[in-house]
Amino acid sequence: MSKRKERGFEHPLSSEITPRAVYEQRRDWLRWMAAGGAGAALAAWAGREAFAQAAPPGKLPPLPGARSTVPGAVTMDKPTAYEDVSGYNNFYEFGTDKEDPARHAQALKTRPWTVVVEGEVRKPGTFDLDALLKLAPMEERTYRLRCVEGWSMVIPWVGYSLAELIRRVEPTGNAKYVEFHTLADPKQMPGLRSRVLDWPYVEGLRMDEAMQPLTLLAFGLYGEVLPKQNGAPLRLVVPWKYGFKSAKSIARIRFVEKQPTTAWMKSAPQEYGFYSNVNPEVDHPRWSQATERRIGEDGLFARKRRTLMFNGYEAQVGSLYAGMDLRRFF
Ligand code: MTE
Repeated sequence: MSKRKERGFEHPLSSEITPRAVYEQRRDWLRWMAAGGAGAALAAWAGREAFAQAAPPGKLPPLPGARSTVPGAVTMDKPTAYEDVSGYNNFYEFGTDKEDPARHAQALKTRPWTVVVEGEVRKPGTFDLDALLKLAPMEERTYRLRCVEGWSMVIPWVGYSLAELIRRVEPTGNAKYVEFHTLADPKQMPGLRSRVLDWPYVEGLRMDEAMQPLTLLAFGLYGEVLPKQNGAPLRLVVPWKYGFKSAKSIARIRFVEKQPTTAWMKSAPQEYGFYSNVNPEVDHPRWSQATERRIGEDGLFARKRRTLMFNGYEAQVGSLYAGMDLRRFF
């Protein structure tokens, strides 16, 4: 996400993503050396995958899920290595550098945890995490995640459709949008000292987007509970929208009549709209969105991928936006 220093915006240009590539190259090199240098050269040529850790280290409690049958829920793209999924994160409550969340989120207390559900629903309430874990069967879904900064990953999530929870709280006819408020506790989250955003982190969806079966309430990834830096104990994942719509560590879900103002809209309204659908034809005001760097593929043999309309989920979600001017409703 953009880097806004204390005052005024200071977003990274796409060229600023380069240090990541340099870092990757150095890491590739170190791995190559560690693996025996020349002896491992063949494997290194075969790709960085030879060294990347594809499975979790098994330190977190298991959270298995049955393979999802929701259309579009399992991409054939190769999952991003666990160490990248859990080591290269945006979670500004813990700092703005990519390594900050893994470093600073470990102190986050994820139990007990409750989620308040309120607003335009017939059955509002406070849901305990254990009740939410049992609310519907867990599914494994492998989604592409495209960050607005121009990188992407492929992550095997565990969770269930947000629609399962929405149906149980019985929205009224006035519920047109859903707002997500995430935890903002200065005692646990050192990043709140920075005014990079107006905390708490707030996101929102239109009701039909929230009900779309791909919209996931995720509790785990790679068959284990979520690492804290990935938004434990529960987060949203909306695969056809830029990653910032996928709010982490949700504490409150509110059903409302008016379109919410999200934290990013407040911070930079010209740059971040409410919809934020992945769209290679609508550039960010300061960089192109036409291509992306897949994390794990940006080593010595860097190549960019073409970004797909709705991040490749057009068949499933395109109809939600029929007739809308996607440049205006960005
Ligand atoms: N949620 C909260 N609460 N705070 C954040 O800073 N960053 C968003 C999103 N959810 C963010 C958040 C952004 S910009 C992205 S790209 C994704 O989380 C990254 O998710 P990941 O670290 O699990 O890949």
